[in-house]
Amino acid sequence: MSTQDELKRKVAEAAVPYVKGIGIIGVGTGSTIRYFIDALADFKSDIEGAVSSSVATTEHLKKVGIPVLDLNETGTLDIYVDGADEINPVKQLIKGGGAALTREKIIAAASKKFVCIADGSKRVDVLGKFPLPIEVIPMARSYVARELVKLGGQPVWRENCVTDNHNHIIDVHNLTITNPIELEQTINHITGVVCVGLFAMRPADVVLVTDGEQIVSF
Ligand code: 5RP
Repeated sequence: MSTQDELKRKVAEAAVPYVKGIGIIGVGTGSTIRYFIDALADFKSDIEGAVSSSVATTEHLKKVGIPVLDLNETGTLDIYVDGADEINPVKQLIKGGGAALTREKIIAAASKKFVCIADGSKRVDVLGKFPLPIEVIPMARSYVARELVKLGGQPVWRENCVTDNHNHIIDVHNLTITNPIELEQTINHITGVVCVGLFAMRPADVVLVTDGEQIVSF
């Protein structure tokens, strides 16, 4: 039986056909995406470049020889590939376990197709068991936390974590997210919130996940 890392590698390799022949691709962040970049390296002569969602991804892309491009220069991207922390049956996601949610959400918004890759443990019926990451302006951290308590969550400051945008992360525990779009909109409206790791208004278009040793898509 494959380990979780082997499953991540398997699903990452399964995403490569989706990007073949596409000049510029958006690339997410995380351990699954590291495997995707490794797999992509074998086809780098086909790829014009990539738009990166984090400093870590930029470093990895450069290491394998894939040019990193600025989203302001590329225009709309044909495809964005990224992982997730939770995925519900309608392809809405929780993301941000790796603190890269803001740039990830920007690239997802700027892409025609979002392909989400994950090992099968990320599939859930209802989002919320994974604490919901929220990027906040540092001086707003306590205020935002109090507002999140009013919504029924239990906010926990991710100490020692500074995002690539120099902000802080609050992880919200104890949420059962039965209406992800409504919650995403509500949290977006709290002053001091930079980005919430709920990808519901712009969900994935295709999800590739492992099911046992197989890859399934929906
Ligand atoms: C980073 C993310 C990642 O996509 C998410 O945390 C999944 O990571 P991994 O592939 O390591 O399980 O949202 O901000």
